[in-house]
This record gives sequence, structure tokens and C-alpha cells, in this order.
Amino acid sequence: MQAKVVVVGSLNMDLVARAPRLPRAGETLAGESFATVPGGKGANQAVAVARLGASVAMIGNVGDDAYGQQLRQALLDEGIDCQGVAVCTGVSSGLALIVVDASSQNSIVIIPGGNGQLLPESVQAFDALLKRAEVIICQLEVPLATVAYTLARGRALGKTVILNPAPCTGPLPQDWYAAIDYLIPNESEAQALTGVAVSDLASAEVAAEQLRSLGVQNVIVTLGAQGALFASAQGVRHFPAPVVQPLDTTAAGDTFVGGFAAALARGVEEGEAIAFGQRAAALSVTRAGAQPSIPYLFEVQP
Ligand code: RIB
Repeated sequence: MQAKVVVVGSLNMDLVARAPRLPRAGETLAGESFATVPGGKGANQAVAVARLGASVAMIGNVGDDAYGQQLRQALLDEGIDCQGVAVCTGVSSGLALIVVDASSQNSIVIIPGGNGQLLPESVQAFDALLKRAEVIICQLEVPLATVAYTLARGRALGKTVILNPAPCTGPLPQDWYAAIDYLIPNESEAQALTGVAVSDLASAEVAAEQLRSLGVQNVIVTLGAQGALFASAQGVRHFPAPVVQPLDTTAAGDTFVGGFAAALARGVEEGEAIAFGQRAAALSVTRAGAQPSIPYLFEVQP
């Protein structure tokens, strides 16, 4: 199989508790339910690409534990090319401790495990996958050196390069920007990248234009129920979000990124691809969990 999209990133087992609200510091809170669910931003985005209509390969690591086997199998079950998913001996698989509250918001602590051992050489070893792909996607749950290598290699090969800067605590290295075709932060990530307090369309536009001035061509700031702001050389466009009743927002951003990338790989025009990603993400927030919440193409097509 020739995968049109390659995702370089994390695989995590999500340990998910639902509670009436998020606990305060020092507090013990009674929860309502618990589930173990395949997740990780990289793996979620790969699943979204596969379910939303494009062939995809994953490059990442799991640990040599039962979770690692389950995480890899979950991707294989979606028809994802996993030749680039390695098993690291002596480390755990990536873990995410997630609490989801009654208003569908979440808080997440991640333990990198095998994700922390994904080296530039791990990506280099699967250069043939990058060469055959049209779109390459990275996030920030694997070492920055690996992301830097992948972005630069994707640019050198002339591929469409997408960075979802999540999770994000500060500005990116300046020399990354010119290698990125589409930078896709949410509000808090756009704020961490720029220092601009992003809370609405106007502030998202300020942040997006600041990021474009650093050399990235296109910026899509996802704003949850406020939609998405797309800044490019052609100007700024607002894409309103479909109105839904949210149950769990975990992996909504991943579904948007994967849906957008799948649509681009299918030759869809970028504005249409953004709207497609939004429809997919809107469906995902009406369902619980990360990978289980990601919709299929037949559910999203108009
Ligand atoms: O974006 C959602 C994901 O973030 C979860 O699946 C969790 O694993 C964390 O990586």
C-alpha cells in the first residue's frame, strides 16, 4: 500500500475518568465511570485520516507491554500501515490520565513512555514512506528533535507539511516555520506560541498574522464552538462551527487535523477541507473517548 498521508507522533493508552467536575489541588473527588481507550495525538490523527478517506502510515513507538500491543492492533484494525510503529524494550507505552467533567471539558496528564524514545533516526529509517506520501503530519508529543527532522525532511521532499503544535508551552524554534504549510493550533496553543491572549476571532487573527510573519504560510486557529480562523496569503476567513451538544471534547482537535489532511490528500480544496474537518470534529465531540469518537467518511459527507 502507498500511504498518501504519514503521521509521525505519539500513541497513548488513555485512562479516562468521568467526574462531575475537574478536581482541585489536594482534593479527592468521587468519579462516575472509568474507561481504558486507545489515544495519543499522533495515533488519533492517523485513525481520523483512515476513517475519513485517505490511506495513512504511522511512525511512532509503543512500549513492550500489553497496552503497546493493544495500541498497535487498534491502528492495524483501521487498515493503517504500522511498519513504522516500533516496540521499545524496557519502557512503558505512552499513557494519558484524563478527567472529563460534566460540561465535556477535560484535563490531561501524559506520561511519554515509548513516545519519548522516537528519534530522528526512527523517522529516517522510514524515509521511503515519507517519499511516497503527499501529506506529512506532526504534533509535539514526541521529542522536538524528531519533529524538527520530520518537518525539514518533508519540506525538502516537497510534501504538504502540517504541524499541530500540541501540547505547547512556548514559542517554536524560529527555523521551523518556513517548513510548515499548515500550522494548526487551538486557542491556548496559539497563545503559547505568540504571547497573544487568544479568546475570540479578533485575537486569533492577531496571533495568526504574527505566526505568518514568522514564515509559516497558512495558519488555522481552532476555536471550539467559535469555529476556526484561517489566515493565508489570500487573507483571513472565518469558518463557523456546526452546533452540537458536546459530551467529550477529547480528540476533537485530532479529528479536525486528520479530517483536514485526509481531505487535502483526496484533492479537496483547502477551504472545503477545513469545513470537512470541522464537521468531523463536531461529530466526535458528541461521543466519548479518543479513537472511538472519531467518525467515518459516510457520516461526514454532506
Ligand atoms: O488529543 C487528545 C489526546 O491527547 C488523548 O488521546 C491523549 O492521549 C493525549 O495525547
